[in-house]
Amino acid sequence: MPHEVRGVVARAKGAPVKVETVLVPDPGPGEALVQVQACGVCHTDLHYREGGINDDFPFLLGHEAAGVVEAVGDGVTDVAPGDYVVLNWRAVCGRCRACLRGRPWYCFSTHNATQKMTLADGTVLSPALGIGAFADKTLVAAGQCTKVDPRAAPTVAGLLGCGVMAGLGAALNTGQVGRGDSVAVIGCGGVGNGAIAGAALVGARTIIAVDVDDRKLTWAKEFGATHTVNSRDTDPVEAVRELTGGFGADVVIDAVGRPGTFEQAFYARDLAGTVVLVGVPTPDMRLDLPLIDLFGRGGALKSSWYGDCLPSRDFPMLIDLHLQGRLDLDRFVSETIEIGGVEEAFATMQRGEVLRSVVVL
Ligand SMILES: NC(=O)c1ccc[n+]([C@@H]2O[C@H](COP(=O)([O-])OP(=O)(O)OC[C@H]3O[C@@H](n4cnc5c(N)ncnc54)[C@H](O)[C@@H]3O)[C@@H](O)[C@H]2O)c1
Ligand SMILES: [Zn+2]
Ligand SMILES: [Zn+2]
Repeated sequence: MPHEVRGVVARAKGAPVKVETVLVPDPGPGEALVQVQACGVCHTDLHYREGGINDDFPFLLGHEAAGVVEAVGDGVTDVAPGDYVVLNWRAVCGRCRACLRGRPWYCFSTHNATQKMTLADGTVLSPALGIGAFADKTLVAAGQCTKVDPRAAPTVAGLLGCGVMAGLGAALNTGQVGRGDSVAVIGCGGVGNGAIAGAALVGARTIIAVDVDDRKLTWAKEFGATHTVNSRDTDPVEAVRELTGGFGADVVIDAVGRPGTFEQAFYARDLAGTVVLVGVPTPDMRLDLPLIDLFGRGGALKSSWYGDCLPSRDFPMLIDLHLQGRLDLDRFVSETIEIGGVEEAFATMQRGEVLRSVVVL
């Protein structure tokens, strides 16, 4: 018998999201049914609602979640009912060419649940990032459940499931930020501040936060930014160069994902430096840069999907650092809301009032 639960559904491009009845099947082979306890509102959920990811409406939104496994299907051995887990959108296959080369964080064939969750009338839902966790229960592939220390509150643990992990990993994994480096982060929302926290964690020497909103810059300082630049009234490229002895930063992270911010990142970086694109552009965006500058400035332009994280390796480790007081995840949670508050939370996010609104179920 399918489970009848509440879920936040985006029916059509730009239309306000609504809480609807969702039918969640019992787990089949390789699947897990998870009782969701908390799920953060990520900008990517809004991208889905805006039709910026794809057109597979209706979407069941929500993908930054923690909860408890309620049931597992045949053949599932890594997780069991009662396990406290963070959901991930990188359940690696172990068999694709990336996995076989020993680079599972690039896995090209990640697992999701095989069975579909539906609306009451049988309409098949597309779960955001294969998760769909603005819902009392969700169905995922068992590999999407990563066990972590249950002493971490679900409101903070869930954030590792997407944005905060993407930011931390953009700095630590993709950007390879290390002790003594200079780093600039453009866009200091949940993702950008994750990158700042990551850079601080590994001992970057100069951490420059760039945003168009002073409130975000104040928060960025609390995560470890050594300098802030409001790019609404200051040229961020000039400012970053000035703060780095005239050269530019070793690593610049674009956590906005627009041609304009990418160009700023490109020129705010030192020769042979690295640009990391972690913000998600929309399909219509184009980039126009002199090819000679690409060549002449050297270094690396990288994109970062999910912070190149390996959930089984990174989630439990980051939760332990959090519990030891070395990684402040609580600070990302600006407010907790009810399941009916997601549409309002999008507006709050767009007004720049929060780092993360977290739905508590
Ligand atoms: N690559 C990944 O795996 C991954 C994962 C999660 C989110 N994302 C993407 O990362 C981006 C950020 O997500 P978020 O949840 O932190 O969003 P957010 O809305 O919380 O934060 C965006 C921040 O960028 C700032 N900003 C907007 N325009 C700017 C500009 N021109 N210059 C400087 N700052 C500007 C805003 O003031 C805000 O502080 C989104 O595009 C999201 O889809 C990517
Ligand atoms: Zn793989
Ligand atoms: Zn996300």
